[in-house]
Order: sequence, then C-alpha cells, then structure tokens
Amino acid sequence: MLTRRDAVRMGALGAVAVAFRPLLAAANGGEPSGFAEAVFGQMKLRRVTVEIGLPKPFSVVQASDSHITYVSATDFEKLNGKSMEWYASRSRIFAGGIPGLAAALLYAKKKGLPFIHTGDLFDFPSRANLDMVKRDFAGRDWFFAPGNHEYHGWGPGWPAIRIGKTAEERTKGRKMFEPYFPNPFPVASRVIGGVNFVQYDNGGFSDCMGQWQLAQVKKEFAKGMPVVLLCHMPFYTEELVEQMVSTKRLAREKIDAGYLQGVPWCGNWSGRVEMLKWLKEQPLLKAVLCGHLHDEYTVDFAPGVKQYAADANYKGAVYEYTFT
Ligand SMILES: [Fe+2]
Ligand SMILES: [Fe+2]
Repeated sequence: MLTRRDAVRMGALGAVAVAFRPLLAAANGGEPSGFAEAVFGQMKLRRVTVEIGLPKPFSVVQASDSHITYVSATDFEKLNGKSMEWYASRSRIFAGGIPGLAAALLYAKKKGLPFIHTGDLFDFPSRANLDMVKRDFAGRDWFFAPGNHEYHGWGPGWPAIRIGKTAEERTKGRKMFEPYFPNPFPVASRVIGGVNFVQYDNGGFSDCMGQWQLAQVKKEFAKGMPVVLLCHMPFYTEELVEQMVSTKRLAREKIDAGYLQGVPWCGNWSGRVEMLKWLKEQPLLKAVLCGHLHDEYTVDFAPGVKQYAADANYKGAVYEYTFT
C-alpha cells in the first residue's frame, strides 16, 4: 500500500504510477510493462460519479483536446514557409498530446470501458492525423464529438487539408473525415447501460445545419431514455462565464461564440441559442460532457444537471465517469 510518505518521496507522478501497478500487472501476466507504467505516470486521472438513478452502474472513459500534431511527407508538400513555422510551434506546444492520448486509450482498454473523445483530437486537419486515427483507434470501442480544430485548426500559411466555410465545402469535409471515425458528425447516438449518449457537433463541420441538428436531438430525447449530451464547446451559463473571467483572466465581453455556445451578447450560428434554451427544459437530460476550454469547469446547467468541461488531454487529463 502506498503511504503518504512514499507519495511525497516519489512526487505526484511517481505516486500515480505506483497506484496503477496492480492494473498494469494484471494486464501483463503479473509484470507491469515499462511502457504502460511510463504512460500512466503522465496521466492525471479524474473520477467523476453522476447519480441518475440507474438500476446498474457503469463507467466510460473520456478525454478531450489531445491536439495531436502529426504531419506526413504528403502533408508537407502542401505547406509553405509560414505553415512550416506554425507546424513546428504547435508540435512543441502540444507535445503532451501523444502521451496523453496513449494513456487515455490504454486506460480504457485495460479497464474494458468505452472511450469517448469530445473533440480537438487533432490540432489541425492533416493526412497524418487522419492516418493516426485509422491506425491507433482500429478495433477500439469509441465514440467521438468533433471539435473546432478538426475542422479548421490551422494558422498562417497553407493548410495540409483545407475545409471551406460554405455548406458544400463543410459537407465535403465531413465526407472526407467520417470514414475514419466511429459515428457520423452532425448528430449521432449510442446507448450504453440504458443511457442514450447523444453526440452533437458544435465544432464547425455542421454550423450550416443547426436547425436540422436541433430536430435530430429532439428525436433522440423522444426515445424516452436518460440522455448524456456530448459536444466539444460548452454551453453558455452565467456561472461558467464568471469562472472563466476569474481563472482565464478574460474580460467578460471577450467570451464569445468562439468559447461557448449560446452566448447572449454575440452572434451565434443558427439553432445554437434555441438548442441551449430547449435543452435546459428537458427532464431526461442528465449531464453535458464537453471540453474546448483546456481547463476543468463543472457548473450547473439546469436543475439537477451539471455541465462538465474537461481539462485538456494534452496536459494529461483523462476522466472516468461512473453513472449510477
Ligand atoms: Fe482544444
Ligand atoms: Fe476547441
């Protein structure tokens, strides 16, 4: 057993690695693998229990905002000097994305739990990032809500994959991406343990179809099961804005539709404000799981319903949600 003195002596990361030894050993014929131990040593696991009155509890693993920055030789052929500089800087900023994602995937696998990623899996669209999904997620039980960086995460210069803003270009982008992912982007659902997990894209691929998305989400609620909503960008709540002003040192008026969905003092895409208003009135909604803010925020969304914005996976954050 790990004592407090041991934990202090080893430092926080060492203590986490030791805490995971039994899990690792069980999965490796009695001997922990050095790789797995190193990966778990970087992981900042948070366990959250959501009480919704289920007859049998179950768990899922969630991560958000890995910001993987792979670029292949094929991608490089499309870049120019500015984008090369951009790529180099982003790969330094988000270097923790690779071990962060490895830990999340390994943890879900070793515990035999479904894995949910709530977007910004990539820092930018590239062939190499899509190839990573094909390779690293093959055979895994996972579900995905796309983020803004899957859609247009690119800075100055030429992107490796450019997805335009018109409805036709967004449709083309979704078609290019969807073979790599486990579910369609605009709206998708899957039932786990009697709960309907409804994924709703507010990251950019589906901005032109907000009213259609709202109609689809309503159909999901009409199935009559408890719903956990998954999306990338958190919904506006006054409590969240107050926390962001404090922790991110942001001026209130700077918190706009690029941060949150349904901010009342700025423009929102069609259907987004209506979606927020409608969701708040739904007794079947039990939780909102999202990311995007790269810090952890848990706020009240509606009476008895919390919105959980995950800290970033590139910083090591991995969540295990248990629904009871
Ligand atoms: Fe992000
Ligand atoms: Fe994001």
